[in-house]
Amino acid sequence: MDASTLIPAQADLTALKAAASGCTACELHGPATQTVFGSGNPQAKVLLVGEQPGDVEDQKGIPFVGPAGKLLQRAVAEAGFPPGAVYVTNAVKHFRFELRGKRRIHQTPLPEHIQACNPWVGAEIAAVRPEIVVCLGATAVKALLGSKYRVTKDRGELMRYAGPGARPETRALLTIHPSAILRMPDDAREQGYADLVRDLAVVVQAVSV
Ligand code: URA
Repeated sequence: MDASTLIPAQADLTALKAAASGCTACELHGPATQTVFGSGNPQAKVLLVGEQPGDVEDQKGIPFVGPAGKLLQRAVAEAGFPPGAVYVTNAVKHFRFELRGKRRIHQTPLPEHIQACNPWVGAEIAAVRPEIVVCLGATAVKALLGSKYRVTKDRGELMRYAGPGARPETRALLTIHPSAILRMPDDAREQGYADLVRDLAVVVQAVSV
């Protein structure tokens, strides 16, 4: 099944979320608890895209509410976004994990999962019509910008966005994923967080939020 066949024409976010709840376009829907669709301001000027829901998000059905999400929310506020200004979503809408005993260990989604889910993130971008799409980490970069961009090399720079759901004036910025900051050694984490805030502040400056 191709996810694009589930997407109603001109759908708003409510209709898209309802349609995505039944998506079986890749095998991840089986073990996951539910589809985790995007959330936030439906008219946001800035739309942030992560990788996939984590363990907490999978259970709650809301993106970026676990440890990485809390760090992201703090960074978004510190960069100068007013409360409720942004929309957040993921490149892949089901949690991919491996069971080790009772623990569900995150696994990076494969290219086929990114590909299968691409119509949903494209439809969200088309519905929200953001001025800037922020790609958080390599999976979002692959899903939306393609393989020629690298977070390490290209982060923090505003560029034209021509990926799924783009309008001619849409721009993109890529930066580190908040989970990568949580995984940094203690002595690097503060700088990693400051660098994320700095990249997000570039976005705040570029739009009137
Ligand atoms: N990491 C992500 O990429 N997305 C979430 O929703 C949570 C953690």
